[in-house]
Amino acid sequence: MSPTRREFMQTSLAAAVAVPAVLSASSKPSETLVIGLIGCKGMGWADLKDFLDEPNVRCAALCDIDDKYLNERAENVLEKQGKKPKLYKDYRKFLERKDLDAVIIGTPDHWHCLPTIEACEAGKDVYVEKPLANTIEECDVMLQAARRYNRVVTVGMQQRSGKHWQEAIQFVRDGNLGIIRQVKFWANFNYGGGSPAIPDEPVPGGVDYEMWLGPAPNRPFNQKRFHGSWRMFWDYGGGLQTDWGVHLIDMGIWGMNIQGPPKSTRATGGNFASYSNATEMSDTQNVLYEFDDFSMIWEHNGGIQSGPWGRNYGVAFLGTNGTLIADRDNWEVIGEGWGDDKRMVDVPQQKSDQMSHVNHVRNFIQCVKTRKKPACDIEIARLAALYAHLGNIAYRTGDVIVWDDANRSFVNNPKADKLAMAHYRKPWSLPTLS
Ligand SMILES: NC(=O)c1ccc[n+]([C@@H]2O[C@H](COP(=O)([O-])OP(=O)(O)OC[C@H]3O[C@@H](n4cnc5c(N)ncnc54)[C@H](O)[C@@H]3O)[C@@H](O)[C@H]2O)c1
Repeated sequence: MSPTRREFMQTSLAAAVAVPAVLSASSKPSETLVIGLIGCKGMGWADLKDFLDEPNVRCAALCDIDDKYLNERAENVLEKQGKKPKLYKDYRKFLERKDLDAVIIGTPDHWHCLPTIEACEAGKDVYVEKPLANTIEECDVMLQAARRYNRVVTVGMQQRSGKHWQEAIQFVRDGNLGIIRQVKFWANFNYGGGSPAIPDEPVPGGVDYEMWLGPAPNRPFNQKRFHGSWRMFWDYGGGLQTDWGVHLIDMGIWGMNIQGPPKSTRATGGNFASYSNATEMSDTQNVLYEFDDFSMIWEHNGGIQSGPWGRNYGVAFLGTNGTLIADRDNWEVIGEGWGDDKRMVDVPQQKSDQMSHVNHVRNFIQCVKTRKKPACDIEIARLAALYAHLGNIAYRTGDVIVWDDANRSFVNNPKADKLAMAHYRKPWSLPTLS
């Protein structure tokens, strides 16, 4: 990290902390919220659908590098609102539209940073998908941009808006579990093992592959590194550790009221079961985050779909009185002790109302109007992304790594620093906003 960049980071984060809970708006949106979507195929469309189910929301524009999804989603929007949006293949042209109050960004992780920064600069509020970005450095510049331009920026970590998650976290924070000595997160998903490799092939018609790669290194087109499966390659994503890691680790950060990085992070793992598949990720990874008086442990197993407490993914807070286990369907507590020494009665499963995503969208819309910080303000998402990236960087370096948040770098570890930085392919560059 160059001294200039580091100085810039220090100033930016100090400034970020000083921001009041209510953001000032340079221009108030009118009664109807006019939105647009960049990245239309998967989650971006899932987000937009829920926006369009809300009153007084209109989609004016869509942007995608793939004609297939651009045209398909234009029809879907027509069906929902009775009017076709304008279509763009270049997000920079899309962002020139003056009528957009807010934009949804549903692109792969390597394409979260620049559109977010440029949307903020153009005076638009942003709902960007998780993880915040593909490197720690990008996350920091995005946070700075949100604050610099006074924008409402929320991140698609919808568990923050889930009622049953809020209740579970409150239960933990109220001290019911006694002394919490360990927080566990696990994500066991079939897709985390990758899938069989296939040869490179010509770029499909209607796809602007150069724009899909964007700041990532140039390489021949391969379907297994493209739509959806990009998450298994470092240039575009971070595998299960970042894909599910930000959602689940964020619950630990929230429950334990963590404000900064762990004392250290170490990891083991490897591609033990899926070694011939198209993936650069470990299919098996265990990460230990060190704190003074408790431990946090991340674990993922790609290629299987079963796990502890009968759940293939989840969070568990292990306390002296009981263990609280939660996933997207419910939370429950298993009490500790026996007979007269029963320290806590079990709490039966408390079901989710499955409204997390709808609530998250509603919270953002509300915050655009009130200029309040959203349920998953960008600073919350930045910390969750930091933890997820620390897990991957510890795994990739094989070192016990210590992140120095004040200096925005690792302690004596240039190898890890390199993995924390964005390495953009020209002509793309990460702005310094100085
Ligand atoms: N919140 C959640 O629960 C959740 C769930 C799934 C995915 N996600 C996140 O959503 C994002 C998208 O994931 P996905 O599975 O939908 O990916 P995807 O590959 O299915 O879709 C990405 C879309 O972005 C488009 N795109 C790529 N580069 C672009 C560019 N430069 N300009 C415009 N469009 C571009 C692609 O053509 C594609 O249509 C990821 O960050 C992912 O982590 C979040």
